[in-house]
Amino acid sequence: MSDAYTPLFPSLCSYLKVGKRTLRNRMVSAPMGFPDLTEDGCLTEGAIAFYEERAKGGAAIVTISEACVDYAHGKSHGRLINLTNPGVLAGLTNAARAIKRHGALASIELNHAGMLSDFDVVASERKGDSNYHYGPIDCVVNNTEVRGMSREMIAETVKKWADGAALCKRAGFDMIMIHAGHGWLIHQFLSPLTNTRTDEYGGSFENRARLALEIIDAIRERVGQGFPIEVRFSAMEKAEGGVTLESAIAFAKLIEDKVDILHVSAGGEPDFAVTHPSMFREHGCNVHYAAEIKKHVKIPVATVGKLGEPEDMEKIISSGEADIVCMARALLADPYLPKKVEQNRPDEILRCIRCFVCHAERMLTQTRVCAINPVIGREYETRFIPLAAEKKKVLVAGGGPGGMQCALTAARRGHAVTLCEASEALGGNFKCEYNVPFKAAFPRYTETMSRLMEKEGVEVRLNTPVTPEFVAEFAPDALMIAVGSESAIPPIPGVEGKNVIPATALDKREGKIGHRVAVIGGGMVGCESGLHLAMSGHEVTVVEMGAKLAPDANPRHRPMLMDELGKFLTTLTSTRALAITEEGLKCIDSEGKEFMIEADTILLAAGLRPREEIVDALRCTAPIVEVIGDCVEPGTVRGATFRAFHAALDL
Ligand SMILES: Cc1cc2nc3c(=O)[nH]c(=O)nc-3n(C[C@H](O)[C@H](O)[C@H](O)COP(=O)(O)O)c2cc1C
Repeated sequence: MSDAYTPLFPSLCSYLKVGKRTLRNRMVSAPMGFPDLTEDGCLTEGAIAFYEERAKGGAAIVTISEACVDYAHGKSHGRLINLTNPGVLAGLTNAARAIKRHGALASIELNHAGMLSDFDVVASERKGDSNYHYGPIDCVVNNTEVRGMSREMIAETVKKWADGAALCKRAGFDMIMIHAGHGWLIHQFLSPLTNTRTDEYGGSFENRARLALEIIDAIRERVGQGFPIEVRFSAMEKAEGGVTLESAIAFAKLIEDKVDILHVSAGGEPDFAVTHPSMFREHGCNVHYAAEIKKHVKIPVATVGKLGEPEDMEKIISSGEADIVCMARALLADPYLPKKVEQNRPDEILRCIRCFVCHAERMLTQTRVCAINPVIGREYETRFIPLAAEKKKVLVAGGGPGGMQCALTAARRGHAVTLCEASEALGGNFKCEYNVPFKAAFPRYTETMSRLMEKEGVEVRLNTPVTPEFVAEFAPDALMIAVGSESAIPPIPGVEGKNVIPATALDKREGKIGHRVAVIGGGMVGCESGLHLAMSGHEVTVVEMGAKLAPDANPRHRPMLMDELGKFLTTLTSTRALAITEEGLKCIDSEGKEFMIEADTILLAAGLRPREEIVDALRCTAPIVEVIGDCVEPGTVRGATFRAFHAALDL
């Protein structure tokens, strides 16, 4: 007989009644919009499967995002669910059913972008086909005419919100979320920065909140009592004169009798770093806003922003800082986080590494991906992955992210897997960042993958380089080569000196780094390593040959990285390293001026080179040979994970 169940996280796992509905626990899948929709704004099978996966993973509510209530005038960006198209009903219905059949509540976020409609962040231009947008006041935003909404336009818009909500209820949704934050239309009316109207919709707080109240009332009228309405709003915006915690508290008090959940986020539209806290910010950095608002209201309060650690989330609920925790990125990295929490398996949760690949790829390629979860974006196809028809003996060479992912996936499919790692530890190039506090998720990733591999019966052998002789003796059916990359050594005089440390050896040699450090190479590795050293008290100068720092960083992560660099270290672009001496690094700038950076240590971050010679020696040593990740071409974790997963599926 098994032991009686005692939850490790009792508060997080407790139910909560909201309106006529019950949340099975306190963990909620926050809205995450991806453009895999049809051109006319309908959900695809792929999009539905994405939301279904969240429900299977145990979230109490799965919030579909972002449904636009007015496609002609209020579409925030790219493709969105078009609630003004009656043809969306079937997709919405299938999505609600897909969520509900796994015991989660199906919710959907309704939005109107107002003056920020149709802006393409990447192209920095407008991408829509409407001639003008709606907003609180006449103005021009992103080269588009914005018309201050007349009373008729307001009434028409309020009706569209109510129509949209009614359509979602008809589709079978258990509840809806009104987006009143992050700088979109309702926020634009609430904020004195964007709402300078002089009529009954502007001026006083009550007037600025009037549109929100009218929308809430109109929706309530259509969906009826007992149908939960959640309102997402920002408890602050960075710009002076905008929404403040005080005004957010007043807003919460004003609406609490009309709605069921107050969902407290933070930040206006340009405040991406606030709405989506980066790896440089602490966990749960926005919780204090929810906690403050909760002191003033009686209805459930939800919090969001860099959450995902079960211990922290348990404390938030048990201490009464919030009633509900919402997660977006944590549930991309591991949609099964809620189930693992409920089943007392927190050490099997794969933690989000906060790399922002998810958001960046949404912008750049309109695809849905996660760096460490290869199923994301492929939830539909991966349902049909069968166990291997024939059990193979698989040898994986290399224990970096690619090797580990390949081993885990192959083992899950029923193969007999052995993973050999030449060094003393798993992790590949993640290892060199193990001491970096803002990369604390990296060692956690390796620990968890290691645990998951063990659970699936993968045999891991450390200090075991895979040579052709080893393969001959081992006689695998399949050899998966994932031996990774190492720091490239540029042909600079003095590069062999004792004062030179390759970035990929940072973890091992950190104790030997002098106070003054010059970093050769201002790509992402150089910038982040330099930043870490500067944050730990070193005096750091990063030298980059090109005109731009970290051009390889994705467009969501890069601005945040640049902000941090600006605070902590010196950077020189269009500057070339000429020679390394005992005094430091001799450089030349774009005007041909030579100068010396005095430094005790030179950190080499001039790119990575694949371990091609190992790969070439191992080719043709087994009936199936696959080459994975950085040893093909140094690239992203996402690329390696994705390739590794699919190589294992091909077995
Ligand atoms: C890929 C991605 C897409 C998102 N799309 C939306 C959206 O459509 N609507 C919205 O209100 N928030 C959206 N968000 C914001 C999240 O709901 C959440 O507020 C934010 O990511 C912070 O939570 P996290 O730290 O758990 O990721 C998105 C976040 C991500 C990562």
